[in-house]
Order: sequence, then C-alpha cells, then structure tokens
Amino acid sequence: MFAKFAVGILKQRTLRSVLVSFVLACILLNMPATAADKVELAMDVSKPGAKIDRNLFGQFAEHLGHGIYEGIWVGRDSKIPNTHGIRNDVVTALKAIKVPNVRWPGGCFADEYHWRKGIGPQRAVSLNPNWGGVTEPNTFGTHEFMDFINQIGSKAYLSVNVGSGTPQEAAEWLEYMTSAQGTTLAKERTANGHPDPYIIPYLGIGNESWDCGGNMTPDYYLSQMKIYSRFVRNFNPEQQDKQQMLRIAVGPGGDGPRWTEWTDTIMKAYQHHTWSWDMNGLSMHNYTVVNWQNKFASTGFGESEYAQFLKETLKMDDLINTHSAIMDKYDPEKKVALVVDEWGSWYAPSPGSNPGFLVQQNSQRDAILAALNLNIFARHADRVRMANIAQMINVLQAMILTDKEKMVLTPTYYVFKMYAPFQDSTFVPVTFNAGTYTHDSVTLPRVDAIAAKDTNGKLWLAITNLNPNQPVEIEAGVEGGSVKSAAGQTLTAPKVDSVNSFDAPNTVVPKPIAAKVQGGKISLQLEPKSVTVVSVEQ
Ligand code: AHR
Repeated sequence: MFAKFAVGILKQRTLRSVLVSFVLACILLNMPATAADKVELAMDVSKPGAKIDRNLFGQFAEHLGHGIYEGIWVGRDSKIPNTHGIRNDVVTALKAIKVPNVRWPGGCFADEYHWRKGIGPQRAVSLNPNWGGVTEPNTFGTHEFMDFINQIGSKAYLSVNVGSGTPQEAAEWLEYMTSAQGTTLAKERTANGHPDPYIIPYLGIGNESWDCGGNMTPDYYLSQMKIYSRFVRNFNPEQQDKQQMLRIAVGPGGDGPRWTEWTDTIMKAYQHHTWSWDMNGLSMHNYTVVNWQNKFASTGFGESEYAQFLKETLKMDDLINTHSAIMDKYDPEKKVALVVDEWGSWYAPSPGSNPGFLVQQNSQRDAILAALNLNIFARHADRVRMANIAQMINVLQAMILTDKEKMVLTPTYYVFKMYAPFQDSTFVPVTFNAGTYTHDSVTLPRVDAIAAKDTNGKLWLAITNLNPNQPVEIEAGVEGGSVKSAAGQTLTAPKVDSVNSFDAPNTVVPKPIAAKVQGGKISLQLEPKSVTVVSVEQ
C-alpha cells in the first residue's frame, strides 16, 4: 500500500517536473532577445567603398513558360488592361522596384532565337524545344521588348544567338535596332514603327556556351566571342562616345576545375586583347539548388530545408571569390565586371504545372535568400557590377506571379523594393559580430548586414535576421559620430514557407519599423526570419 502511494507521489512529481520543464522551454523559445543576445553594428562612413551599381538589381525575362506570354504580353485585344499588349498591372509593379536592366530573350532560348521571326506584321510560329516543346508565336519580339523596357523605365540587355545563329545574323539585328542612317534595315525598323534608333547598353555574347549554348570548349567559345565582339556593332550615334554598349562574354557556371579553366582562358585572352575585340563583362551563373536530382519543394517545408537552403546560397560568396581571384590576375584594374546574370532559387516544379515551365512558389525563405545574395554582391561591388535574378515573372524565383487577370507580388519582390535605395549607392563598411544560428547540423550566421550612402548622401542599413525562431536586438552606431533616428520597413512572415497567393496576397508584406535612439545609437528589435531596411539620420 505504502509502496503504491510512494510510486503515485513519484509519478506526480515526475509529471510535475516534466510539465515545469515543458513550460520553461516554451517560455525560453518565445523569450525576447536579452541584452546578451544584442548584436552591435558599427558603420564606418569615413571609409567609403565601391559603388553598388544599380545593375546588381537587374532582372531576367526568358521565353519560358509564362514568363513572357501571360506574364508580360497579353495582346492588344486582351480584356486584361494593357498598353500595346503589355499588361498594365505588371508594368506598374515593376516601375516601383526601379528595374535597372532586363536580360532578354534567354537563357537557353537565346541560342535558338532568330530575331527576324519577331518583327513585322506577320510573325512566324516556331518552337521552343528547350522549355516544354511548346509553340513560340513570336508576337513578343524586338519592338514589343523595347516598348516594355520603355514602359517600365529600364534598359535592354540583349543576348545574341551564338549557338545556332551566325555573326551576320546578330550583326544585322544590331544594325536593325541601332542604325540612324538610311540603311535598308533601318528603313525596315522605321516601317515597323520605330524611326529612332534604339539604345542597347548591354550585349550578351551567347549563353552558357559550355552547355545548352552549344557545349563548346573554352577555346572554341573564345574564338567565337572575338568574332561577335568585332562584328556585332552598335551604330546608335548616342552610343559612340558616351554610353558605349558593354559586351558581356559567357563565363563560368560553377567552381570546379572546368569552370576555373573557363574563366582563366577568357581572362588570359582579355589581358592580351588587341584593338579589334573587347569585352566589358564576364557572366557567371549560379542557382541555389541543394540537389539537382531531387530538388527541394518551394512550399510545405520546415526549418531543416530552410537552413540547408540558406547554407547552400551562401556559397555564392566563395564562388565570387574564386572567379574574382582569377580575374584579378589578368585584370587587376577590374575593368571587366563579373556579371552574375542568372541567380536565385531553383525548386521542384509546382505540382500540376508543366515541368518545362519552371513554375515555383516564392516564400519568406526566398526573401531571406534574396537579401543574402544582394548583400554578397554589394560586398563585392568593385568587381560584381551587374546581376540578374532568374526570372522576373512566373519562372523560378520570380518577382511577380500571374494567373490570367490576377497578379501577386512575391516576398522576393518586396526585398527588391526595400533595397531600391541601394541602387548606385556607395558601400559603407559595417562591422558586427554575426553570431550563429544552428539547426541540426547546419550552422549559419545569425545576422547579416550591409550599409551604404545613397546618391543624396543618406545612410541606409539593411539587416537580415536568419534565425526563424528568435528575434534579435540590434544596436547600431556610426564610428566617431552619433545617430539621430532610423526608420524603414521590415519583412517577415508567420512561417518560413509562408507565401503570397492569389487568394491571400498580403501574407508577406513589409511593415514599418522605427528605431529607438539612446546615446547616439539606434536600437532595433528584428523579428525572426526577417529582412529590414532603414534609413539612418545622422
Ligand atoms: O533560367 C533557366 C535556364 O537556366 C536558362 O535558360 C539557362 O541559361 C540556365 O541553365
């Protein structure tokens, strides 16, 4: 009897202690950051760094899935409000993020694109064997692209066909677009509605020529690139002295010996280049994919996939270091830009979608991923002067998703909007002890931050809290000075896989955040898994 009673008491006590531990654990998990958790940041405005080129915030629009057709182009007769066939809602949204340049028409598509099919009143219908094997109506061609660029206030980054085209075809495209003289091609452009020559600031010579662009060796590509560089000319009178067209050569797609050899071959040739050819940029492609054979899902994931994916994306920094080091060897003055013209998350296709259309949702994980990559680019701004997230609408890590007349802005869109003040700003070094956030075997920095002064001299600070469970308290100051106030926006979400859907478009939207000021420093409480951008008054 006594024994039974004693066991009963013991059970009750064990139960109580389990309950107490459980309650304590819950309190700890939800506890606000303590002073010990505080991250101190110091911005050193006396040591300005490189210009953070606006082109780091570039976009990529390929003829792929619903990236162009439905995403941009709905046609003049569509019930969806449009201007010359280009949807107005998308234009308004893109204007708000100040898109500096758009790379077009691909991607792999570019190396099978024949521009003549996309001009004039009669358009040939061709195929898109790379992406779903669907028909390509060519209704969105040269003039429609340039109209779109004009409507959103951006610049054209044209990718010419090296894989299945010829230097002559590409040279004629450029003559058609840029000649102010009365050549037959310029007259054809006039007849098609555009008497003035177009401005083409950026020219990509091929795409992934080591793979879908023709499986070339570095030496073979190099000899092709020299020919295109020589003969594909820009005749626009406004682009002869100032605003000269920049030529971007195909660069690496990874970090193994195959890729370092590629960069080495092109850059070594560049070092000894003569008057007859030139290049101003070397492209690099790097997607965040943990496993190409078994890609992660874009929704319905947990903390483990969140942490693994962010760990993978941070490899962008090593990749840039690897290829920058080779470029430094041959181009110490950093004349040639490293152009990361395809980057972003690549997940398994959304269930029920055409796998060739690369449809995926976009979550708070993508927002964090975007901020981390933009921060990496900014820290390498002396060499990385252009980058294009893949892709702008309805494909991969998109800014915008559309479904017929509906449109939704993604978490990634909001990061680009919040980061707009960093376009053409001057990098300001910021020191901080990032700390760590660990989940299972994955350890990541707990916070990441960049600072910069915009073109009006205003100071901006962007801070990401990678930890999805804990807030972080930030104390930020300016070396040798004091700060009066700081305010801006923060983007977080209920869960790491929260998305904006057509039915619930405002699940992940930025909200205002203001800092407290004490002793000339600002204090900010950052929510878990958040991206925050504030302007700092000194
Ligand atoms: O962005 C999708 C594809 O990825 C591009 O067409 C190609 O360049 C890359 O492999």
